Amino acid sequence: MNIPDKLSAVGISVFAQMGELARKYAAIGLEKGSPDFEMPTALMELSNRFILEGKNQYAPLHGVPVLRTQIANHISKKYQKEINSNSEVLVTSGATQALYISISAFVQSGDEVIIIEPAFETYAPTVLINGGIPIIHELDPPYFIIDWQKIQDLITPKTRMIILNTPHNPTGKTLKKQDWVALQNIVEDSQILILSDEVYESLVFDGQSHQSILRFPQLWHRTLATFSLGKTFHCTGWRIGYLIAPQYLMEIVLKIHQNNLYAPHTAAQYAMGEYLKNTEHIDSITPFYEKKRNLFIEEMKESKFELLLCEGSYHLIADYKNISKLNDLDFTVQLFKKHGVGAIPLSFFYTSRRSDEIVRFCFAKKEETLISGAQKLNRI
Ligand SMILES: Cc1ncc(COP(=O)(O)O)c(C=O)c1O
Repeated sequence: MNIPDKLSAVGISVFAQMGELARKYAAIGLEKGSPDFEMPTALMELSNRFILEGKNQYAPLHGVPVLRTQIANHISKKYQKEINSNSEVLVTSGATQALYISISAFVQSGDEVIIIEPAFETYAPTVLINGGIPIIHELDPPYFIIDWQKIQDLITPKTRMIILNTPHNPTGKTLKKQDWVALQNIVEDSQILILSDEVYESLVFDGQSHQSILRFPQLWHRTLATFSLGKTFHCTGWRIGYLIAPQYLMEIVLKIHQNNLYAPHTAAQYAMGEYLKNTEHIDSITPFYEKKRNLFIEEMKESKFELLLCEGSYHLIADYKNISKLNDLDFTVQLFKKHGVGAIPLSFFYTSRRSDEIVRFCFAKKEETLISGAQKLNRI
């Protein structure tokens, strides 16, 4: 049979490919964008408790009320944005699903979606699945500065959405207030939606505060903001994320959500709701990861890698031009094979696959992993 493939241009996930190399060469897993340490015990116990209490049937379509209330409280405290927990919060199966249903709800055949690359790997494929056309604005190392004039030039009558990500995976950069103001001016008289991926909202370092789209009232009517409690609380496998949007947009997204998932794991939602009641839990995340970032930077001081500025997220990118002239995929394979350390080539975050002699390391790891990873990298 000759079955057409909607995503013929898209290969298997980079993370799956690199994970395969890590297993083959028993490398230190700095490629993997998830923690190698355990999630909070109290959260595990809460999940057990709610399972035993019988919270085992379908959750409400928007998510369980206790969790939605806590999310709304968190948004109000952190971003001074009041949202309606009944109509403007949707609990999703990770941010991945929140991104998927947000794109699917609004992008129709022929619509253009501006994506700034390097970018998280699901954006462009999800646009393609829905018949949209990714319009790519490539950022250049070492500063990865968004050229807002260029974004303005890319806008056409077909532009339906712009996707942004802060703190940014893979570069570790963050958007500043002036970025949002520039965007605000560009989209002012348009019908363009902004999908703001903020899964690393709690990982902004050096005393900066996270510039969420939710801080900008003039953008609210075009906002779809995605978050990940799996990222925040070291349990990416729980697949609990959420979407914040004004009610009139949320109602459209819900039509996709109810046909795509309905609701994520019920007991996990109750556990998250209960856990978030203690605001200490979320407030402690920034110093926890900042310490890991600083440790990794310190341990890499003697290395020939040049670490680029990491303002947030739990990833850090490193230039290896003082070590090798190989392209980044070949260099990464060599890192796994010869040096026993995992990384992700930066080219995998560009549709064009351009190679800039840069790799990404993840520092969401135990201290001993970071130290032994850095020791191996220092020897190169
Ligand atoms: C920028 C970005 N967005 C979204 C996701 C997906 O988040 P989740 O695990 O909650 O689906 C990731 C995961 O690595 C990410 O880095």
